[in-house]
Amino acid sequence: MASNTDFEKYKSDGSLQGHLLEWVDARFPATSMWRAHLSEYYAPKNFNFWYFFGSLAMLVLVIQIVTGIFLVMHYKPDASLNANGIPVAFASVEYIMRDVNWGWLIRYMHSTGASAFFVVVYLHMFRGMLYGSYRQPRELIWIFGTLIFLCLMAEAFMGYLLPWGQMSFWGAQVIVNLFSAIPLIGEPLSIWIRGDFVVGDATLNRFFSFHVIAVPLVLLGLVAAHILALHEVGSNNPDGIEIKKRKDANGHPLDGIPFHPYYTVKDIVGVVVFLMVFSIIVFFAPEGGGYLLEYNNFLPADPLKTPLHIAPVWYFTPYYSLLRAMVWPLFGIDAKFWGVVAMGGGVVILAFLPWLDRSPVKSIRYRGPIFKTLLTIFVIAFVILGFLGTKPPSYVFFGVIPGAPVAQLLSAYYFLYFLTMPWWSKIDKYRPEPDRVTM
Ligand code: HEM
Repeated sequence: MASNTDFEKYKSDGSLQGHLLEWVDARFPATSMWRAHLSEYYAPKNFNFWYFFGSLAMLVLVIQIVTGIFLVMHYKPDASLNANGIPVAFASVEYIMRDVNWGWLIRYMHSTGASAFFVVVYLHMFRGMLYGSYRQPRELIWIFGTLIFLCLMAEAFMGYLLPWGQMSFWGAQVIVNLFSAIPLIGEPLSIWIRGDFVVGDATLNRFFSFHVIAVPLVLLGLVAAHILALHEVGSNNPDGIEIKKRKDANGHPLDGIPFHPYYTVKDIVGVVVFLMVFSIIVFFAPEGGGYLLEYNNFLPADPLKTPLHIAPVWYFTPYYSLLRAMVWPLFGIDAKFWGVVAMGGGVVILAFLPWLDRSPVKSIRYRGPIFKTLLTIFVIAFVILGFLGTKPPSYVFFGVIPGAPVAQLLSAYYFLYFLTMPWWSKIDKYRPEPDRVTM
């Protein structure tokens, strides 16, 4: 890996690389981009474990794109039945698993990658909540982040239809049907989304098209915008203080270190640990006990047989619980509609976090007991909502506590946490932030 000085050396030593670099630099900002985003991008020197997840999210994005390209070479988005009476799409996935060289590995990397993406992104978002990384001047980084999260959900939802298994079919049927609850336009809207009166070949083809090209393009654009916005204002850090306020004689932040080589090397540690865990799952537990690949999805889609229990994959289940928590019709509109509002609202409300939080300090290190308590309860509520979302609404904890009212209570907490934040974040105690980062 070349550092800046190497570049300068190349340019002046009359070598072939030097001439080549000069030639490129006269036509493309290679060296200046390298400097601005890597070797002279000063990042706070106190990054901890939580700062691995941004680069890991980029790694998973690359894994998904590369494995996806190879899957598309053999996958067929076709709902018609083959000579054996099996849907062509389902059979093409089986073909990848059994007959394509290394097809099983590519497919398991892609399916495990989907879950890994959400693990990494949920932890990445939580880091933002811990250290107040969404606060001024990083509001746009956060907003691009919430848009990425929405795109990721759309990408995973549409990808899940492609194997054309029972869960693919019925999951899409349930979710697209929700749109029909929207007053006046609901019914035509859901037909428009499906391209048919039920989920069918037209739906499979359009979801395929969106999954392999449209949404990934938007996702890549948003990730670029996310990083550009980050590099414009500079990274936050576990102390939540602005390192740009204190600079040395050269104008570099006193508490900053060049991203390359310090964090490029440090991030390799995160990558190695991540790949170890990822490989263990891909090679030894790709189904993840039915949580990563649902058992019902090993059966071909059958529009005439509804599975007993339809549940989305784990990463959607907290939001699925918000949806199911709305069981009362309001203002004469079906409860299903309010469920959709709750599910969508649960994601959209995240975008407002920069303006809901009124604390004078950013990081949890200097925030008071109210924040610490409410955030802990928020995490517990989110996990329980996720758990309940994998269960039928009739689920009862330990045979005594009915799950449905618990989900309703926790859903109310989810929204109240955000809606009351302007009040409690202001009255909470806090400690003064230090001038310099602490290690
Ligand atoms: C494909 C998904 C994503 C990728 C590839 C990605 C990538 C990155 C990278 C590389 C960084 C800088 C390194 C770091 O701070 O960890 C970063 C920072 C950040 N990201 Fe993301 N991100 C993604 C999704 C999200 C989401 C969903 C949110 C929030 C809703 C978010 C919020 C932030 C914030 C607030 C920062 C600044 C953190 C700080 O300076 O403390 N990101 N992101």
